[in-house]
Amino acid sequence: MEGAFIVFEGVDGSGKSTVCRKVASALGSEGRKVISTAEPTHEGIGAFIRSGSAGGISQATEALLFVADRNDHTERIMDWVSEGAIVLCDRYFASTVAYQSAKLDGDGTDRDWLLSINSRFTSRPDATILLDIDPSDSLRRVGVRGEEVSKFEKLDFLEQVRFNYLRLAEEYGFTVVDASADPDTVFDKVMSVIRKVI
Ligand code: TMP
Repeated sequence: MEGAFIVFEGVDGSGKSTVCRKVASALGSEGRKVISTAEPTHEGIGAFIRSGSAGGISQATEALLFVADRNDHTERIMDWVSEGAIVLCDRYFASTVAYQSAKLDGDGTDRDWLLSINSRFTSRPDATILLDIDPSDSLRRVGVRGEEVSKFEKLDFLEQVRFNYLRLAEEYGFTVVDASADPDTVFDKVMSVIRKVI
């Protein structure tokens, strides 16, 4: 059977990880070989990013780290796909464009530059599913209280991220799924997108 490369995108708390897990289990029970993966990865540069050891770096430096991690990850993804696996990837290049171009404490990175550095090191997914949700709902889901949101201005940041994602979805043909719907409806919609490409 042919492999496929499926990407899930969305703001923090949009439910990507849960949907990825459910999809992996559904496809696995049909006998398909499924590999679930995520960015930042959990090895090398990805693990370094996740550890927070880079400290207070600019959005541009952070973008370079995410893309460096993506470069090696993409090679592995392409190998898995060529071996016939359905690769479910939690975040890919759109995360860098959506997050690192949003302004965090006044610092945001040029969108065209982000698109250009990514284009050199990425492969085109067979489908990208954007789990779209209002960040105030997604933050409530992950248990962030109102006073914490205003303290870190996280809500304002994630609203920009959501806007950036929706723009990318139009430009790159992502499938937008309403992630505020009930979990079964979200799962059914996601599966119908995936069935079209596998
Ligand atoms: P996660 O919560 O999905 O594991 O992602 C970790 C955080 O990293 C999340 O807040 C989004 C952020 N991120 C970026 O800012 N740029 C990127 O390119 C990627 C892959 C993640």
